[in-house]
Amino acid sequence: SGELVLVLLLMLLIWYITLKPGETVTVEVLYVLTRSLEPFPEEISQSEPQLVYFRDSAIILSPYLIKEQTTFVKTPSSNVESFTRVEPTNRAGAEIKYGKYDNRTPYSYSPILVHFENNNAFLVVEELVREVEISHWGSLQITEHYTWPMLVHVIMAVEYQSRPSISGVSSFKQLIARLPPRVHSVYYRDGIGNISTSHLRTSNSKSELEIEPRYPLFGGWKATFVIGYGLPLEDFLFKSADGKRYLNFTFGCPLVNIVVDKFTMKVVLPEGSKEPSAIVPFPVDQHLETSYSYLDVVGRTVMVLEKKNVVPEHGIPFQVYYNFNPIFMLAEPFMLVSVFFLFFVVCVTYLHMDISIHKS
Ligand SMILES: *[C@@H]1O[C@H](CO)[C@@H](O)[C@H](O)[C@H]1NC(C)=O
Ligand SMILES: *[C@@H]1O[C@H](CO)[C@@H](O)[C@H](O)[C@H]1NC(C)=O
Repeated sequence: SGELVLVLLLMLLIWYITLKPGETVTVEVLYVLTRSLEPFPEEISQSEPQLVYFRDSAIILSPYLIKEQTTFVKTPSSNVESFTRVEPTNRAGAEIKYGKYDNRTPYSYSPILVHFENNNAFLVVEELVREVEISHWGSLQITEHYTWPMLVHVIMAVEYQSRPSISGVSSFKQLIARLPPRVHSVYYRDGIGNISTSHLRTSNSKSELEIEPRYPLFGGWKATFVIGYGLPLEDFLFKSADGKRYLNFTFGCPLVNIVVDKFTMKVVLPEGSKEPSAIVPFPVDQHLETSYSYLDVVGRTVMVLEKKNVVPEHGIPFQVYYNFNPIFMLAEPFMLVSVFFLFFVVCVTYLHMDISIHKS
């Protein structure tokens, strides 16, 4: 919320500078709240619908006089148990209308409480680390692709019960990961043994990986799993006008309807990449790391982007730019050749010694 206040203040400052007297401007602000619904009652039987509380204010908390305000609260279904009235208040089906209110003094605050049925299954991923590895050389050898193993530590927390119509069981039937089209070499692995199955469906426009827990997963279970896949390099790696390479990839979690507490995106650049920089359309914490894999000489630069509270709205493109000298593509084969050559020399030396011992 600190971020939000900062952005709003910045916007106000910009209007203050650019708006002429008598002019008006329309501003739209979208924000997503996580963990803001409180289940009540907290414990229900498996066949009961889950009811939740939502708390807010009928009038926005503002340091300025509010000439006019109307607030709409839209619930997922028209099953609303109760709601606070701040007259005028009207309800029609799944929509509650607060206002319109006129001429409210600064810092007017009118708390409201809405108690309604929420049938949406919610899944909270505690931590997600996504790693995208760019290999210019690998893409020449096989189909050009990225490999990114994704480590997921999941709390299968059923914060809000799933649809009671699904045999009345308040657990998840399946998870769906939306992957880009042309995905290949998909694998899925459970961290704590054999509890799930998975299916992959691909089409020209998208791919969907369905993960079906073999046993129902109730709230409170902890599980870890890994999904890995490859993608054609040419779909995601481009050259900018100034000669830099850049990766254009999607931020966020590919699993549908997921909130991630702690999200880490790692972009592993090819060996020899220089001056990496990231462009992300929202604030993230970023730093650089170095990783080593076999045959690496100087190690690979890793662009690490971290964000807390990642919601589906964060699933938009971001870019990582870097300079790359193609001569570095020869580093790996050079190492490979060197290793074989060394092996060869050792063999020859050994054989030679062997022979000379026999002779003597
Ligand atoms: C996982 O479960 C399936 C079906 O129950 C079984 O066929 C398979 O052998 C199991 N694999 C392991 C490694 O236990
Ligand atoms: C990144 O990809 C998206 C679509 O996937 C596209 O709309 C956008 O223009 C691309 N951005 C850059 C900088 O290439």
